[in-house]
Amino acid sequence: MDHFLYRDGKLFAEDVPVSEIAAAVGTPFYCYSTATFERHFRLFDEALEGTDHLVCYAMKASSNQAILKTLAALGAGMDVVSGGEYARAKAAGVPGERIVFSGVGKTRDEIHAALTGGLRQFNVESEPEMAVINEVALELGVVAPITVRVNPDVDAKTHAKIATGKSENKFGIPISRAREVYAHAASLPGLKVIGIDVHIGSQLTQLEPFRLAYRKVAELTETLRADGHDIQRLDLGGGLGIPYERSNEAPPLPVEYGAMVKEELGHLGCEIEIEPGRLIAGNAGIMVSKVIYVKEGEDREFMIVDGAMNDLIRPAMYEAHHDIIPVVEPTPGEEPAAYDIVGPVCETGDTFAKSRTMAKVEAGDLIAFRSAGAYGAVMSSEYNTRPLIPEVLVNGDQFAVIRRRPTFDEMINRDTIPEWL
Ligand code: LLP
Repeated sequence: MDHFLYRDGKLFAEDVPVSEIAAAVGTPFYCYSTATFERHFRLFDEALEGTDHLVCYAMKASSNQAILKTLAALGAGMDVVSGGEYARAKAAGVPGERIVFSGVGKTRDEIHAALTGGLRQFNVESEPEMAVINEVALELGVVAPITVRVNPDVDAKTHAKIATGKSENKFGIPISRAREVYAHAASLPGLKVIGIDVHIGSQLTQLEPFRLAYRKVAELTETLRADGHDIQRLDLGGGLGIPYERSNEAPPLPVEYGAMVKEELGHLGCEIEIEPGRLIAGNAGIMVSKVIYVKEGEDREFMIVDGAMNDLIRPAMYEAHHDIIPVVEPTPGEEPAAYDIVGPVCETGDTFAKSRTMAKVEAGDLIAFRSAGAYGAVMSSEYNTRPLIPEVLVNGDQFAVIRRRPTFDEMINRDTIPEWL
């Protein structure tokens, strides 16, 4: 459920007409709903009620300061995967003890920054990384709390580019080697082993792969405890999917996920940590774009819009589906049309949808790409020297630009000319 609904024939973001925001900021832009972010965070928090837990928002999904502050105010922790994300989380006022540092290749500088600024734990991805964390901690005279990310070799049954839990993927250490790696970790004086981490992929639409992975983690917890390790915390990653195609998708709900977590892991008495990104942010955002032209092709109609693959890359990169709706509600009984919906960027990959049936549009009409709140703005680029599009946050009947559109001069002036030119 989200807060982008038609009222009297007009699309609203909470209590603000989307057309009003478009008139104020210009198109294209991202528009987020505070209430949806809050609702989705709470769904996870409530799903784990009764167990000691922390929901650490995977901020890679959408990392504007205003969004981080909104979630942090509800008590969210943050899952960060780079020095930049760590700095963003701190700048938004998230205390170090609520920041988990994940990521497959943490550099010495990033490790140093997190140990200096404070963190909840590092999720260690390899033995070489473990050695560097130990070294930096010893240099600083501190002890780094760590979990080791295990790769359970489970098929997440999701898009190949976002599956992470098979042995062929670059993530974690093979679960079969966990005892050896934990024994090594325990021997390093700069580290304190506190738990186990696992994340098997993103946009999972079934509970079974999670269940298989968590069962392996439960077994491993008991084995490692028997080996003498103090396993107190289980970080279960993120990955729960959202319904991108609302007419025919119904992935499991957070409450069902939470029940499964308690069933598989509840008996261990561990603190549970989860790192959802997409489910919190995805349906909390839309991308609003304007139709520039409707062009008759030989055998199809092209809807050319002012948003493009540089603004929302998911369709081009993962063949992802986004529901696309007009900002003015179609009248019932109106004859629809089929469009290839494309952006102005100079490559065929800049296609959002092929032969998409929707209400007829004309140049100047506004459309909204739904489910664009996660991995939308954060993956955008300035390809074709198109400015990064603004982000707008709605809260009830108010809205604010939370990242403005840069000017052409700002973009150009980031380049520097060598003295020989
Ligand atoms: N934890 C770790 C260690 C992760 O790598 C990820 C996502 C998450 C948590 C959050 O997963 P989520 O709950 O959002 O599924 N750009 C792709 C998605 C990449 C996901 C990367 N890792 C997309 O647009 O579909």
